[in-house]
Amino acid sequence: DSETDLKVRPPVVTIMGHVDHGKTSLLDALRSTDVAAREAGGITQHIGAYQVTLESGAKMTFIDTPGHEAFTAMRARGASVTDIVILVVAADDGVMPQTVEAIRHAKAANVPIIVAINKIDRPDANPNRVRSELLQYDIAVEAMGGETQDVEVSALKRQGLDALQEAILLQAELLDLKANPNRSAEGAVIESSLDRGRGPVATVLVQKGTLRQGDIVVAGTEQGRVRAMLDDHGQPLKDAGPSTPVEILGLSGVPGAGEVFVVVENEGRAREIAEFRQRKLREHAAAAGAA
Ligand code: GTP
Ligand code: MG
Ligand code: NA
Repeated sequence: DSETDLKVRPPVVTIMGHVDHGKTSLLDALRSTDVAAREAGGITQHIGAYQVTLESGAKMTFIDTPGHEAFTAMRARGASVTDIVILVVAADDGVMPQTVEAIRHAKAANVPIIVAINKIDRPDANPNRVRSELLQYDIAVEAMGGETQDVEVSALKRQGLDALQEAILLQAELLDLKANPNRSAEGAVIESSLDRGRGPVATVLVQKGTLRQGDIVVAGTEQGRVRAMLDDHGQPLKDAGPSTPVEILGLSGVPGAGEVFVVVENEGRAREIAEFRQRKLREHAAAAGAA
């Protein structure tokens, strides 16, 4: 894509941190700020990724990864989906083993971190202790003379969310995130499942181009025509541009999280690619079995 084709796209954000430090609570709190959800008549859908539209019109996409394993699996499969990691550290508990693991993952993926010091409402909260503990892991927040943004929040009391969202938008601006919406879509599978009534359902993140209902896609070893597309409120969509998470129906099966998807020109080509990949998988399995 040439420079002139590129348009600003919303940041894609993943929340990581130690068990019970408030990742899910923070995702829920952030989601409650979505003005588009109010228009859609409430938050109904649970999908593995959602987009928040702020009063200002700015958008940001959050990926609800179940854990570090999913993040690693996605990276191993070649899908780098996250622009920014929010590192949640509980102010009463401080840096813990999975905090350190999250820092390692973010650094290995070369993804910038914003520290959310959570549970600031607690009487035993000690945010300065968190800041100094982070120094040991090469994270210097602004108050410690570094450049990593940190924000004090309470997911429970819904405090500090504006400041956190501002930090995300500032980081996104520094990253100069752009994609060409005027091309065939490419992206990554966030999660997928077999639904009794609807068949295979995949939540995908569009990373480049625009995905349209009726497009023919290949995702890992699966393929098919996008029969229907739903946004994170369960509303039908005709097209989805860069950084948009959508549920798609119509695939031949359930692709793995982290598989890359691409739009191809026709169903014959889609089947050819999917069958080639299935054959390769079988060969690998047979070779592993023989060894
Ligand atoms: P896992 O997914 O199990 O790793 O936990 P998590 O990081 O998603 O934490 P979760 O959001 O489930 O919160 C864990 C506990 O901390 C719950 O009891 C929350 O109510 C509580 N909690 C989360 N955020 C806050 C906060 O800002 N203040 C206080 N006081 N409690 C909080
Ligand atoms: Mg959780
Ligand atoms: Na939304």
